[in-house]
Amino acid sequence: MNQPNSTQYTWAGRFSEPMSDLVKRYTASVDFDKRMWRQDIRGSLAHARMLAKQAIISAEDLADIQRGMAQIVSEIEAGTFEWSLDLEDVHLNIEKHLTALVGDAGKRLHTGRSRNDQVATDIRLYLRDSIDDIQVMLKQFQSALLDLAEREAATPMPGFTHLQVAQPITFGHHLLAWFEMTKRDAERFADVRKRTNRLPLGAAALAGTTYPIDREFVAAELGFEGVCENSLDAVSDRDFAIEFCAAAALLMMHFSRMSEELVLWMNPRFGFVKIADRFCTGSSIMPQKKNPDVPELARGKTGRVYGHLTALLTLMKCQPLAYNKDNQEDKEPLFDAVDTVTDTLRIFADMIPGITARPDNMRDALRQGFATATDLADYLTRKGLPFRDAHEAVGLAVRRAEELGVDLPQLSLTELQTFSPLIGEDIFGVLTVEGSLAARNHIGGTAPEQVRAAIERARGRLSGG
Ligand code: ARG
Repeated sequence: MNQPNSTQYTWAGRFSEPMSDLVKRYTASVDFDKRMWRQDIRGSLAHARMLAKQAIISAEDLADIQRGMAQIVSEIEAGTFEWSLDLEDVHLNIEKHLTALVGDAGKRLHTGRSRNDQVATDIRLYLRDSIDDIQVMLKQFQSALLDLAEREAATPMPGFTHLQVAQPITFGHHLLAWFEMTKRDAERFADVRKRTNRLPLGAAALAGTTYPIDREFVAAELGFEGVCENSLDAVSDRDFAIEFCAAAALLMMHFSRMSEELVLWMNPRFGFVKIADRFCTGSSIMPQKKNPDVPELARGKTGRVYGHLTALLTLMKCQPLAYNKDNQEDKEPLFDAVDTVTDTLRIFADMIPGITARPDNMRDALRQGFATATDLADYLTRKGLPFRDAHEAVGLAVRRAEELGVDLPQLSLTELQTFSPLIGEDIFGVLTVEGSLAARNHIGGTAPEQVRAAIERARGRLSGG
């Protein structure tokens, strides 16, 4: 009979030759899955408590496992725990060390369990924790955004369509658009959390287990909302991770849009905002430069999160039930998506208070862009002119103003009346930026009064009201 020359593998009994170094390196995941060690231990302890409650292991075994795990936690925290590639992944590393520390009780921990349901549990716990962190950071970002929006609730700036000056809005109103975008992101993550928060443990390798386990107990211990109801599905699907990446991709898409706007606004040709120096860098060759590196990088990092979503969709595609080793590849994309979203949120929450508006430049842009042209058209329509005719009359007026190098309200009344006899003295109130803003006074509109009301509502929502 062939004796394996190494007995360190869990499955050595079945094998006649050791694994090559290349295969070992190719198949190991410990380098990246060790970041789930807390979740792995939390899951193991809940499983062990259940085994003891069901008299599948003894109370002494449970006590030994708890003592050993406490020791392992302190070793990992102290940085003295030795992670070994030979032990493939986080699960085997911890289990082997537990056995070294407490003996047979460590070997009994895996009763009624497989790494297949163990890893699925760990990822779900990890992702749930990550979503909770992300929600906290999203709130911090949003509350910084509301502070800035409040300060700038009445600051006029041009709103754009096609990146051409369109109509006056307030800076606060623009920032509230960002708030709404991220509000939906928060809702999406909360929704992903619900489907993530189900317990796979008990599925064992794929078919369930012969021991009298209590899955509901483990679910409650770990704060899961319930158990995965089919053992094959429990160990095989990673749709919750894909959903997370989809929510992360959308969030990054939003931050890439904010980033793009910050980059434009910081450009001296716009000059709409200043961003505190600590979020910018200089150039090694051009002494005059101040570059908006943080928003640029956020824009760039969006791509990698899109990539992770595609990677996970492709990873899952066509996999037959149940567990396949392919699934080990779910972690790096998922972890990097978590890290990228987390870092981006944190840095944006820091940066928002470092943004200062430059209202004079915003006003100049409004003037140069004939931003109140629509207000003139609406005025003529209110006086009875069909909107299309009003549109044409105002087009001619804008052309005239452009020739003269002035803004619409600077044209004289007689000049304005050449475009329509309906225009009266009251037009000048309409053509001012303040008049234009104040007129859009309905929910969702840009009137400063509405912006302040929207901030109020948003704050209520943030504080859980
Ligand atoms: N490291 C593995 C993973 O991430 C754990 C599960 C291994 N299961 C197995 N049957 N080889 O998926």
